[in-house]
Amino acid sequence: MKTDEIRSRYLNFFVKHGHRLVPSDSLVPTNDPTLLFTGAGMNQFKEEFLGHVTDFTRATTCQKCMRTGDIENVGRTPFHFTFFEMLGNFSFGDYFKREAIGWAWEFLLQEMKLDPARLHVSVYEEDQEAYDLWAKNVGVPTDHIWRYGEDDNFWPAGAPSKGPNGVCGPCSEIYVDHGGGCGKSTCSPACSCRRYTEIWNLVFTQFNRQDGGVLVPLPKKNIDTGMGLERMAAVMQGVRFGMDIDLMLPIVQAAAKITKQTYAVGRTDDVGQRLKRIAEHTRSVAMAMADGALPDRLGRGYVVRRLIRRAALDGSAAATWCVG
Ligand code: ALA
Repeated sequence: MKTDEIRSRYLNFFVKHGHRLVPSDSLVPTNDPTLLFTGAGMNQFKEEFLGHVTDFTRATTCQKCMRTGDIENVGRTPFHFTFFEMLGNFSFGDYFKREAIGWAWEFLLQEMKLDPARLHVSVYEEDQEAYDLWAKNVGVPTDHIWRYGEDDNFWPAGAPSKGPNGVCGPCSEIYVDHGGGCGKSTCSPACSCRRYTEIWNLVFTQFNRQDGGVLVPLPKKNIDTGMGLERMAAVMQGVRFGMDIDLMLPIVQAAAKITKQTYAVGRTDDVGQRLKRIAEHTRSVAMAMADGALPDRLGRGYVVRRLIRRAALDGSAAATWCVG
């Protein structure tokens, strides 16, 4: 299935379930000066989550996101991107865990036709309500349900002890099992062997964290979900690297052409990694500049400049090998 079709099926599914289709916010956040870049679908809805805006209670988006914390991994690992699209459905004091879990499962099985035997889920270790919904309402076998702590199953990660302040809550993640992996008896979706790919994070936003780790219940509970579009596309297209999906492959191949290299799906050697990085960073820079973040020596402009510099260094290295 093409990436464009996944995107439209997702948005249509949630519109059908009463959500307002809201455009992606700019990568330069419209209403949040505390952020360099928009990094999640929920960023544009902070006022709605706090109950300050009430003209609609359900939204769905495909949000342009930029995250550079894992920039060193781009090209090396299957799914590290600095720019990516995040599909999301949101409830502002409207539906909660039961519907969010039920619709996520329905979408994956009925719209994406995924085999439930390949799906695993995780819940926050103290969230028995979510555990029971997966086990009893949805019928996920208990050996496919995992309980993890606040570093894995809270959003933002580790928020109760480490912050930041603001809206937060336990989450539940959905993973696809590719088989294989490390084979250890301790292997689970949290294992670093990459047997499992996380495709969707359902956040049950029910607290406003304040100084000292105080979790104040929000007057109304919310839902914030994020599905990585490139990850879902890789699952649907049967490729193990996000850079090999229909949306990315032509960019990687264009980088190969310019540097007089060749690129075939699955190439993971040094040249393959550099070509993927050039493609990924070039796309990020194009998206950032289109939203008004121009190269500069400070702030978000510095991030853009750094991405250009890294892509250029990879490009000159790749081109040199072909000459040499
Ligand atoms: N806000 C959540 C995330 O980014 C859905 O994973």
